[in-house]
Amino acid sequence: MIIINTKCINSQQYSLENLLNLCKLIDKIRNIASTSEGLKYLKTILSDKRAILYFKQASTRTFLSFENACHILGISCSEIRDTSTSSEVKGESELDAIKTFSQYVDLIIMRHPSSDFIYEISDNLPNVMRIINAGSGSNQHPTQALLDFYTIWKYGLENKKIAFVGDLLRGRTVRSLALLLNKVNGTKLYFVSPKSFQIKDDILEQLNVEYELTDDFEKVISKVDVVYMVRLQDEYGGTNEIIDTNKYSINSNNINKIKDDAIILHPLPRRNEISVEVDKDKRAKYWEQVENGMWMRVALICDMFGISNIDLLNNKIY
Ligand code: CP
Repeated sequence: MIIINTKCINSQQYSLENLLNLCKLIDKIRNIASTSEGLKYLKTILSDKRAILYFKQASTRTFLSFENACHILGISCSEIRDTSTSSEVKGESELDAIKTFSQYVDLIIMRHPSSDFIYEISDNLPNVMRIINAGSGSNQHPTQALLDFYTIWKYGLENKKIAFVGDLLRGRTVRSLALLLNKVNGTKLYFVSPKSFQIKDDILEQLNVEYELTDDFEKVISKVDVVYMVRLQDEYGGTNEIIDTNKYSINSNNINKIKDDAIILHPLPRRNEISVEVDKDKRAKYWEQVENGMWMRVALICDMFGISNIDLLNNKIY
């Protein structure tokens, strides 16, 4: 197996070898899925499995890409998105709710507002239960980081300068991705944010690669190979400080300062961090990230069920 765990909990659990093998598996699966015969084959490989999507925070991309990844693999899905329709309204604890549906399914995909609850359920369920963290509060979003890593890998991974721009204090995608890029040779990270929204020390303390903190986007915009934008994460509380978000945005006024061969990423949803007119620019890769997310999740689920390679010609999985 590529990834030793039956759980996807945080970025720290992945080695560089895991990540590179996962990238190759994604490409292999996409190649298989490019024909109707291949798609039919993929639909058979986990058709004996069932999954539940338990989402206690809003989501468009993560929810739908996981649901569609399950469809691609023939996995039957159920969901709880609105707990006003579940027995949690009768006072059932979240842990009891999860212990209940763990009796029905093989895979739990969970998004939750708490940073730690994913660890609690992981500790309380049998090891054989597959569990995926689809976003744990403002702490981590490892599957977004895996798809971001795959997107960067496709354009060249080593010796890259990467700027994270925006609310890095609560931006869980940045926290998870920084920990993955930390494993790559020659990476330099720039954390670009107003001082009060800078990334926390708990992430910086884990970094071995070179990094810089700055509040000046103009200073780094022309130096970097990857510009990774994030929005203000105000679902975790507003701020009394007046922030000029235009200083942390890409638009027709500053797009030409970005290197010609750089890529612009955003986990989405966006607000004004990237103007719509930038979408047409060849460097804008955030819609590609959305598509990559579904295929990465297909590959991740395969791997978590012990399928680390797929050979369509021989109808063989191993
Ligand atoms: N990138 C991301 O997590 O998007 P959603 O919140 O729509 O799932």
